[in-house]
Amino acid sequence: MKAIIPAAGHGTRFLPVTRVVPKEMLPIGAKPALELIVDEARSAGADEIVLVISEGKELIRRYFEGQSDIRFVYQKEQKGLGHAVLQAEVDDEVLILLGDALVLGCNAAKEMVEFSRKHGDAAVIGCERVPMEKVSRYGIMKTEGDRIVDMVEKPTPEEAPSDIAVAGRYLLPAAIFGYLKTQTPGKGGEIQLTDAIRRMLAEYPAYAYVYPGHRQDIGNPEGYFNALKAFYEND
Ligand code: UTP
Repeated sequence: MKAIIPAAGHGTRFLPVTRVVPKEMLPIGAKPALELIVDEARSAGADEIVLVISEGKELIRRYFEGQSDIRFVYQKEQKGLGHAVLQAEVDDEVLILLGDALVLGCNAAKEMVEFSRKHGDAAVIGCERVPMEKVSRYGIMKTEGDRIVDMVEKPTPEEAPSDIAVAGRYLLPAAIFGYLKTQTPGKGGEIQLTDAIRRMLAEYPAYAYVYPGHRQDIGNPEGYFNALKAFYEND
């Protein structure tokens, strides 16, 4: 199993600091947030970790360079998460961990791998339950049991098929890259990973796994503050 960590985004919600410091490199304790995510991928069993970066985010490369299981790939234009993942194409089952989504309190990726093994190595999407009034911020799952039937991007509370939200972690078969290659731009003109996964659902079973931790979005100052608070309160 390989891991891909997309960390090539502009970080506009965290300007001006992201003009020089990638948000993924902001410290959580004495380590960059990204290192905690790399550690999570390693202990979940990934034998290679591909970091997707962009020009101007060389600090990431400098920090992780020389680690034998880490490889760097550049996304030249920020055409969306799906596009970032495609730049790192691997020929294996793949764990995708968003570089600005920190999960504290459990190893979400490891638990997802164990869950997949119990379900015939099926695809697993890491999820968390969110308050109904906040569903419009997330990709929301339509499920039968744990099996994913569909995903709805940013629904209103009335439209939402559940309160189960996509939360920064995916375990997918290598087939996802075929879907990404033929994926047309969606919301915001970006190649969306969610759109490719929805097409994949017709042929590959996928399960929603609600991990016991809480996803912290460190892509904006308030989310980063909450992540730090959770980190020190957990310790
Ligand atoms: P976000 O949409 O949260 O990141 O993507 P962003 O584009 O950097 O954020 P804003 O809107 O400008 O503030 C989630 C993760 O996917 C990566 C980001 O680096 C982040 O870790 N990403 C996103 C890419 O690698 N490439 C992209 O084209 C988009």
